[in-house]
Amino acid sequence: MDHFELRDGVLHAEDIPLPQIAAEVGTPVYVYSRATLERHAQVFRDALKDVPKKHLAFAIKCNPNLGVLRVLARQGYGADVVSGGELERALASGMAAEDIVFSGVGKTRAELAQGLDRGIGQFNIEHEPEGAALAEIALARETTANAVLRVNPDVDAGTHAKISTGKAENKFGVGIDVAPQIFARLAALPGLNLRGVALHIGSQLTSLAPLEAAFERVGRLVSDLRAAGHSITHVDLGGGLGVPYKPGDNPPSPADYGAMVARVTKDWDVTLMFEPGRVIAGNTGVLLTEVLWVKPGAANPFVIVDAAMNDLARPALYDAYHDFAAVKPTGEKMTASIVGPVCETGDTFARDREIDAVQAGDLAVFRTAGAYGATMASTYNSRSLVPEVLVDGGRYIVVADRIAAGTIMAAERVPDWID
Ligand code: LLP
Repeated sequence: MDHFELRDGVLHAEDIPLPQIAAEVGTPVYVYSRATLERHAQVFRDALKDVPKKHLAFAIKCNPNLGVLRVLARQGYGADVVSGGELERALASGMAAEDIVFSGVGKTRAELAQGLDRGIGQFNIEHEPEGAALAEIALARETTANAVLRVNPDVDAGTHAKISTGKAENKFGVGIDVAPQIFARLAALPGLNLRGVALHIGSQLTSLAPLEAAFERVGRLVSDLRAAGHSITHVDLGGGLGVPYKPGDNPPSPADYGAMVARVTKDWDVTLMFEPGRVIAGNTGVLLTEVLWVKPGAANPFVIVDAAMNDLARPALYDAYHDFAAVKPTGEKMTASIVGPVCETGDTFARDREIDAVQAGDLAVFRTAGAYGATMASTYNSRSLVPEVLVDGGRYIVVADRIAAGTIMAAERVPDWID
C-alpha cells in the first residue's frame, strides 16, 4: 500500500498534487512519501512480533537520502552499511552508532578502522583475512570488535542473476561447509568478539522457500558451532524480501516472512538481525517525469520522457519492470515503448507496453522507484544528477538538490601542460 493516489483525476503524493512538484522543482525528480515509508517500517516490524530479540538495520544502499534515513531513525531503525560513506550518512541521519552493522565484501582497512573509531555495533566479516585484519586493528586501539561471520549457504535465491548472492559461485561470505573451521580460528583472536553468523542470499526474492532453506542450514551451523563450544548470540538474516512491481505480482508479504522466520528460528535463542531494504523503501517513491515527444516507431510509437537510464538504471541493468502511469490519466490507452534521451538503445523503460495514453508535455511516473533508484543515478551524457523530494501530508521539501551538469564540470580541470 502506498500514498500515491488519484484525486480529482490528478495523481498526488499524499496531499500534494504531482504537477505542483513538477512546476516548482522540475523533472525528472524522485518523490517520496513519508507516510508510506513509516507505514512500511511499521509493517515490517509488526511482522516480526513473534521474534523476541531483534535488531532492524535498514539496508541504506537502497535509499541513502538523509531525509529518508531520518524518518527511519525515528522509527527505531539502525543501518546496514557497506562503505565508509554510508557509515557517515547513517550517523549524520541520527542513527546510533551501536545500531549500525557494517557489511560488504571489500571493506578497506581504513573503513574497518573508521567503523571502530565510530563505535559501530557490528562488523559482518566476509572472509578470514578480513576478520584477522579487523582483530589486529581493534587490538592496536585496545578495543574489541563485535563481529559475525557471513556464510554462503549455497542456495539459489531464484532471482535475477545479477542480484543473487547466496550461491557457492557468488563472491559473498565463506562456504558454509568450511565455516566451522574459519569461525574457530577467528574466534580465538584477541580483539574480536565473534558472536554469530550472517547470511544474505539475494534481493527481490519472490518466494520464501530459498530463504527458509538457507535459514535451516544456518540453524544447523549454529548448533554445530555451539557444540564446538562457541557462544552464539547473534544471527543476521540479511534482507531480500521482494516487492510487487507489476500489476499481478504477488510476492510473500512481510507477515508471511515474519511467520516463517519465527517458526524456523524458534529454538535458536539469539538476537535476530534483519537488513531490509527494498521492502521498506521500494513503494515509497516514484520517479516523476515529463513526456518530451511521442515519436512514430516501426511497430509502436516511442514515448520519449525526460528521465533516462542514468536516473533510473534498473530497467537497463536488470530488465526490471517499473509501472508507468500518467499523472492525469484520460482513461485512454496506447501501446508504446518508453525511452529516455540517452544515446543507447538500452535506455528503454518499457517495450511495446500498453500504457496510459500520453502526449508531449504530459507528466507521468515510474512507480516503485524508492529503492535502488536515485542512489544508482549517474550523470551519464552529462545530465544533471536527479533531485529528490520528501512529501509529508500537505508539505514537501527538496531533500536532495538537482546537481547541475555545470557543477560537475566545475570539479574538473584541464592540465595546463596539454597545449
Ligand atoms: N543486506 C545485504 C548484505 C545486501 O547485500 C543487500 C542488498 C541487502 C541487505 C538489502 O536487500 P533488499 O532487502 O533490498 O533486497 N540494485 C539491485 C539490488 C541490489 C541488492 C544488493 N544487496 C536492484 O536494483 O534490484
